[in-house]
Amino acid sequence: MRENIILIGFMGVGKTSLGKLLASKLGRAFVDLDEKIEHDAKMSIPKIFEIYGEKHFRELEKAAVKEVSARRNIVIATGGGTVKDAENLQLLKDSGIIICLTTDPEEIFRRTEKRGERPVLDDGGNERLETIKKLLAEREEFYSQADCKIDTTDWSPLQIVNKICEKVKMQR
Ligand code: S3P
Repeated sequence: MRENIILIGFMGVGKTSLGKLLASKLGRAFVDLDEKIEHDAKMSIPKIFEIYGEKHFRELEKAAVKEVSARRNIVIATGGGTVKDAENLQLLKDSGIIICLTTDPEEIFRRTEKRGERPVLDDGGNERLETIKKLLAEREEFYSQADCKIDTTDWSPLQIVNKICEKVKMQR
């Protein structure tokens, strides 16, 4: 039980790139939830939002969490909103150690500036930094349920991966 390593946290904190690096360091399989949703739906996430809306995306996300959390010994990178759903959070908690990656709103702003990739932020209009701060505040109660938090701001990807490995050892 609890054999997986699950990365949660806001858009732009580096869940996907760090998850890949972590999985290769540990010799584990890696699943990126957003990539899985896109692969299964044969459509990009912005297109899913555009054609079917966020509610439908969240249903696909929930189905993907069910499937992926049943696997063992893998590294999972979630989407920024995955753990807003209590059932998703519980399934993920039951399947592994939850690490929340963080960085400050200004850094998130810089990393997510490109439009057309993250519909949740594009919906916020021009006040993108304000939208980021508002969503971060709303989501804090979910992100804070992780087993531990790691601030990624001043560290290299390898340093962060090493920190994750230390935290995982401490949890076992
Ligand atoms: C979302 C984050 C995205 C993706 C979708 C919704 C969110 O994932 O799942 O656009 O609600 O925060 P990333 O955190 O990988 O960008």
